Amino acid sequence: MTVLVTGAAGFIGSHVAHRLLDRGDEVIGLDDLNAYYDVTLKDARLAQLTARKGFTLVREDVGAKEPMLALATRFPALDRIVHLAAQAGVRHSLTDPHAYTHANVEGQLNILELARRLPGLKHLAYASSSSVYGGNTKLPFSVEDRVDLPVSLYAATKRAGELMAHCYSHLYGIPATGLRFFTVYGPWGRPDMSAYLFTKAIFEGRPITIFNHGDMKRDFTYIDDIANGVIAALDRPAGGTPPHTVYNLGNHRSEALMHFIHVLEQAIGREAIKEFAPMQPGDVKETYADIAASQRDLGFEPATSIETGLPQFVAWYRDYHGV
Ligand SMILES: NC(=O)c1ccc[n+]([C@@H]2O[C@H](COP(=O)([O-])OP(=O)(O)OC[C@H]3O[C@@H](n4cnc5c(N)ncnc54)[C@H](O)[C@@H]3O)[C@@H](O)[C@H]2O)c1
Repeated sequence: MTVLVTGAAGFIGSHVAHRLLDRGDEVIGLDDLNAYYDVTLKDARLAQLTARKGFTLVREDVGAKEPMLALATRFPALDRIVHLAAQAGVRHSLTDPHAYTHANVEGQLNILELARRLPGLKHLAYASSSSVYGGNTKLPFSVEDRVDLPVSLYAATKRAGELMAHCYSHLYGIPATGLRFFTVYGPWGRPDMSAYLFTKAIFEGRPITIFNHGDMKRDFTYIDDIANGVIAALDRPAGGTPPHTVYNLGNHRSEALMHFIHVLEQAIGREAIKEFAPMQPGDVKETYADIAASQRDLGFEPATSIETGLPQFVAWYRDYHGV
């Protein structure tokens, strides 16, 4: 297979690209290496990929129409796309909203237009997010639930991406699968997310900020389980009319934030200095994935608890940062 992986220098994209290379696929890794977070981390992830046989780097902005459409003639052998490039982060969408429409809406449109121009394309798998469930109070979150009440612009752009994929699948028969990820963590993780932020602060002896006074729950999903889910989805082109489906990829365990912090403290061997703060605008109190459809159709079986996964993240953090 020849697979375009967008966001290949990112957390999830780099793991997925390694998995594809492991099994002998050709990977075209696309990323614009923007400075939303520490670019040296993106460069370090990328250095491991560019050293491998079968990996080609394309430094490009998914929101740039012409160069994105030109990929169809540049790489006519492309038969799969894993579209993970996005402006991520719920909180940042309050301060830089246009970055979200550019990367997540224009970018999604360019990917769909590229897909139209690839006659050999077998499947497009793209990232959505648990945030599309917004303030949903019915738990666990099911792919059957209503998702038209987003509470952040990030969520609205991710939902827009699903609707656009559905429409292109209907109009042009493009097999497409949307994957709603639930709070992913693990080695090479994102510096703007809780596992990384808390670990860094604890090692540096600085306080951690705990929103909604700790009254939050999250379905934390380990990166290896997510990579398995992405590959399983990619290998099963969506059927149906139109051939478009969405799945939840979560751990199917909703963990109390204070328990998550406790497990992290144990893995680090130090207690966190805790500062409690009110709920942040755009945030949701609880997430919990119903994964019945992903289990049934994709054979998705997340196997990693936070008791196992967080020590692995901390081990990577110590090694990478030399602490
Ligand atoms: N990590 C999570 O918990 C989580 C949860 C839900 C959804 N998601 C989604 O999964 C996908 C991957 O997330 P991640 O955690 O790996 O994030 P990430 O930020 O580590 O990776 C995204 C990558 O895309 C690149 N990128 C951003 N805008 C781009 C653009 N305009 N053109 C080209 N490249 C661009 C970035 O440089 C980055 O390397 C995203 O679509 C994100 O919205 C992630």
